[in-house]
Amino acid sequence: MDNNVWMEILEYARWSASPHNVQPWKIEVVSATEANILYDPIRLLPVEDPTGCFTTAGFGMFIENLSVAAHSKGFKIEEKYTETILDHTKKELTPFAKIKLVKTDDKEIFDRELITERRTSRLPYNGKPVTDDVIRELVKIAMEFGHTFTFSKDMRMINWVLTLNRDTIFYDMNDAESRNEIGLWLRYSAEDAHKKNDGLWAHCMNFPGALMYLFFHTRWLFNFPIINSFVKYLYLQSTSGTRTVAWLSGPFNTPYDWLNAGHMLARLWLCMTKHHVYLHPFGSIITNKKSHKRLREKFNVEEKTNKIWLIVRLGYSKLPPRSLRLSVADILV
Ligand SMILES: Cc1cc2nc3c(=O)[nH]c(=O)nc-3n(C[C@H](O)[C@H](O)[C@H](O)COP(=O)(O)O)c2cc1C
Repeated sequence: MDNNVWMEILEYARWSASPHNVQPWKIEVVSATEANILYDPIRLLPVEDPTGCFTTAGFGMFIENLSVAAHSKGFKIEEKYTETILDHTKKELTPFAKIKLVKTDDKEIFDRELITERRTSRLPYNGKPVTDDVIRELVKIAMEFGHTFTFSKDMRMINWVLTLNRDTIFYDMNDAESRNEIGLWLRYSAEDAHKKNDGLWAHCMNFPGALMYLFFHTRWLFNFPIINSFVKYLYLQSTSGTRTVAWLSGPFNTPYDWLNAGHMLARLWLCMTKHHVYLHPFGSIITNKKSHKRLREKFNVEEKTNKIWLIVRLGYSKLPPRSLRLSVADILV
């Protein structure tokens, strides 16, 4: 056995989702069955994700996708964490986990092609709620990981969530630190997006690049009430047709909780992809303090034991644009 299995499964896992598409992972292949996962500190989000919870969950998703991809070669991935605290002050690539390809006879229910088919859809949805059989599968997957998947098809709740998500974008933009950090990951043009192969490309954000540029660089313009209301209206229109929102709750306090949640989110998203359901996570509702407070007040939940750690809209849309990725060669060290 040579290193080809690593190359083959990385070709799948590099399509994993990460907050702001930062793709913080690097891989050092040690042998045909062993590799080290490292993180690149300049790809962390110290302002938007100060505890690293979402980026750590991204690593959980990445490892889960490696494992799903490895199953068709008769392997699964076993991981051992070197360091679970992502430290943005580090100056160099930093070890995160040791992973191993281990022989397995277990059947994997997800076809690995789903990993590359999966996409975030920020497009309008088609006005149909997600079917009950799909919801049942999602509830079951979440339960297997010790989490609860709660959904709502009630229009009042849907409108409340969509409005909160829209407001969050304005809250983030009015905060200089958040704005500066998000700005580092925005790709306004196709040329910029294809040069860097990471970050949030305007095309995928379903936002005209020029408008996105103005939004970030001329804040004063958007304080004029007419312009402000118009952009808010435009943004809300982009999420029209949503008939299902959902939230995930469960243990989300320690790095191991975040990794477990990431493994689960990878499988939930593959399950949705299998059923042609698209997802639009609203992670910034959780990371933005003002929005999170509004969420806590609305749901009246006990945060210590049963945190709502992700809120999403899900449904059926046209094929969303493909967000770009670093190549396997870029990921390898
Ligand atoms: C934990 C987490 C939180 C996210 N939060 C948001 C969000 O608040 N808003 C958003 O538009 N996308 C969000 N995303 C989606 C990512 O931006 C997206 O996965 C990434 O840009 C790659 O695009 P893709 O999923 O289409 O491959 C989130 C993703 C993850 C994993």
